[in-house]
Amino acid sequence: MAKRSVEVQVLDSDFSVLLRESVTYEFKMESRPKQRFRNFIMFLMFLALTGIIYFSYFCSDSSCSLTPQVRVRQATWSATMNDGISADSDEMMRLGYSIQDSLGQPLSLHSSPINSKTSNPGLSYDDVLNENFQFDMNAHDVMVFLHIQKTGGTSFGKHLVQDLDLQRPCSCQRKRKRCYCFRPNRNENWLFSRYSTGWKCGLHADWTELTSCVDAEFDKNEGDSVKRRYFYITLLREPIARYLSEFRHVQRGATWKHARHWCGGREATPGELPLCYHGESWSGVTLDEFISCPHNLAHNRQTRMMSDLALVGCYNTSYMSTGERNRVMLASAKRNLAAMAFFSLTEFQKIGQYVFEETFNLRFGVPFEQHNATLSSTTLSSLPPSKLRKIHELNALDLELYEFAKTLMYKRFNKLKSRDPQFAERFANLGRLPGRTEFNWDQAIEDTTITSNTDFNTLQVSSYGSLDASV
Ligand SMILES: *[C@@H]1O[C@H](CO)[C@@H](O)[C@H](O)[C@H]1NC(C)=O
Ligand SMILES: *[C@@H]1O[C@H](CO)[C@@H](O)[C@H](O)[C@H]1NC(C)=O
Repeated sequence: MAKRSVEVQVLDSDFSVLLRESVTYEFKMESRPKQRFRNFIMFLMFLALTGIIYFSYFCSDSSCSLTPQVRVRQATWSATMNDGISADSDEMMRLGYSIQDSLGQPLSLHSSPINSKTSNPGLSYDDVLNENFQFDMNAHDVMVFLHIQKTGGTSFGKHLVQDLDLQRPCSCQRKRKRCYCFRPNRNENWLFSRYSTGWKCGLHADWTELTSCVDAEFDKNEGDSVKRRYFYITLLREPIARYLSEFRHVQRGATWKHARHWCGGREATPGELPLCYHGESWSGVTLDEFISCPHNLAHNRQTRMMSDLALVGCYNTSYMSTGERNRVMLASAKRNLAAMAFFSLTEFQKIGQYVFEETFNLRFGVPFEQHNATLSSTTLSSLPPSKLRKIHELNALDLELYEFAKTLMYKRFNKLKSRDPQFAERFANLGRLPGRTEFNWDQAIEDTTITSNTDFNTLQVSSYGSLDASV
């Protein structure tokens, strides 16, 4: 198992969901060459009046679709390559899922029955048959960072825009707290994140929001003539520490009130998501109050933000029983996590850095720091056991998701490690690139909350020359 290549090509789970739910899902048969090039070819062919060649070209390119039988065969073939994750296979089976570890692969299918029409277009026939899944910055690959609150995503997001050793580094502008992360050969974004594109799909957009929004945003800003591949990445954190960290952040006045909670084609209504506080914010809230608000979005936040909420009727809690809702959300969150090209855990910075670098074949110029003694752990040690037990109950789904994630992270780590002859040296020298000096983050980008309604649009009209960083 450890020897298997990470470029396994077909996800049987996706095909089975596809067939099972008969989602109206189009297999895009577009091939890679640009529209312009094809038009040119077609023009030449027209001039030469080679009608037969013309028609066969046209047919093979866009109108000879896969038959259902072929899809089934594809799914069966891939089933033999699925090594799954045994610990959770029973639950997955009951829900009609199987889990496929998608290390290094693009997110392939959005299985939302409610808003499947607006979802990301997924794999084409070409992808399935002809390509491996290496992230290719020169082509049309996009990294999408799903940033869950209080998981260390801010530091990681800064590492992404500032510390990667790229042919064309992101160029950052202090005043705008934004970086242009463009492909080496043209001014198109390869990174969707707060510090590059901004919160274009809503503040701290979750899986449900991103998968129904990112592709449309790119189409809007960069045109829809190419089919992009999306590599989703995220961080998870030990749930109790994360919960307490969120509590302290809210106590200091954070609200995230501009989060959209978009699902099923609309935002959640105030009736579906009542606020826990009156007035501007919940600042000064006590831990008891924080714990007792039943609508507190901090509870099991990671599971909710990782799951496909369309499966549970979005924020409508009368759509199914609480038990069923929790079960489906957790299963969906695990599945989506496993389908991500990369994820890491806040508690394992070094492993995360190594797995990222190996997965995307990119290198960071600084070592990730492990922050041990945060205020959360201080709070934690002073908590009475009864309260701690309550917090565990409120985050039971997240605790299970986190255990699942830890197992899967080690599995990916060991797999990458086993095929890396230079592992020991690489791991000992993470973040040390020849000729690079460390620099202070806060000089480049201040860590303040920024909102979404600035300039993804202007990126396209800016010329390369005017973007030079003031870093
Ligand atoms: C919530 O779900 C229930 C049960 O499916 C349905 O009857 C109700 O209309 C839904 N509410 C909204 C606001 O969609
Ligand atoms: C975190 O703890 C480890 C071992 O306990 C220690 O080696 C490391 O220096 C600590 N990191 C920080 C940032 O304090």
